[in-house]
Amino acid sequence: MSIRLEITDLKKVYAGNTPETVIDVFDGMNFSIQQGQIFSIVGPSGCGKTTLLRLIAGLEEKTSGGILLDGKSLTGCDEQVGMVFQEYALFPWRKLVENIEVALEIKGVDAAVRRTMAMQYVRDFGLEGFENAFPKELSGGMKQRVAIARTLIANPQVVLMDEPFGSLDSQTRNVMQEFLLKIWEERKDTILFVTHNVDEAVYVGDRIAVLSPRPAGILKIFDVGLDRPRNRTGKEENRIKSDILQLLNASAAVRPPS
Ligand SMILES: Nc1ncnc2c1ncn2[C@@H]1O[C@H](COP(=O)(O)OP(=O)(O)OP(=O)(O)O)[C@@H](O)[C@H]1O
Ligand SMILES: [Mg+2]
Repeated sequence: MSIRLEITDLKKVYAGNTPETVIDVFDGMNFSIQQGQIFSIVGPSGCGKTTLLRLIAGLEEKTSGGILLDGKSLTGCDEQVGMVFQEYALFPWRKLVENIEVALEIKGVDAAVRRTMAMQYVRDFGLEGFENAFPKELSGGMKQRVAIARTLIANPQVVLMDEPFGSLDSQTRNVMQEFLLKIWEERKDTILFVTHNVDEAVYVGDRIAVLSPRPAGILKIFDVGLDRPRNRTGKEENRIKSDILQLLNASAAVRPPS
């Protein structure tokens, strides 16, 4: 398998108004993600997970370091990178199918073609019958499926997901994890999956990076190496979860979260 996304010595500093308010988010972050892999990231609140995704998506400028896609430097927004935001970020005035079509519209795809493509996603994502509903008429799980469909329809090389299931109840969250894995089995996208939830990180991830508090660095990368479907309460799964929690707790004790 080849490396799809590579982060080398990435640094990000937010300049404050005074030296005391300067925020050093990363002070040299390194990792790489293989093509077709799900790479989970867990870390304490405020350590810079969203910032990392925003840098890769080109929504924020890095201070220094490299962000490479297939060995080439990513600069600014690139259609090869798609992002699923935590808060769905659907357009409330657009119907479900129109929300899925947005990326194709921006690309200038013909209206009839994009509707046909979007309706395929509506069917594949179990949203049939709701294509003309507005976001406020949808459940959280449905909105999240629309948000994922809207990103995947543009066929990105790398999909960034920022706590995509964070606001769902635990049962819907489990359903959405299964759904994500089913879609991934078919497409084998390269996914960077940020989550607060260690169970989720271990259930979906091929590898899991554990971040330290700010300035965030990688404490350890775990290789899960278990076949899917996984057992949510399996012995090996539980061992990895417990190692991750221990690492998070130990690092929080060293540097209190700000
Ligand atoms: N635009 C900005 N200007 C200044 N500081 C910022 C900006 N965006 C984020 N920060 C700071 O950078 C740090 C990292 O924030 P970030 O949102 O990336 O954390 P996070 O790990 O995603 O947290 P959470 O788990 O709570 O979502 C925080 O201290 C935050 O206050
Ligand atoms: Mg965040």
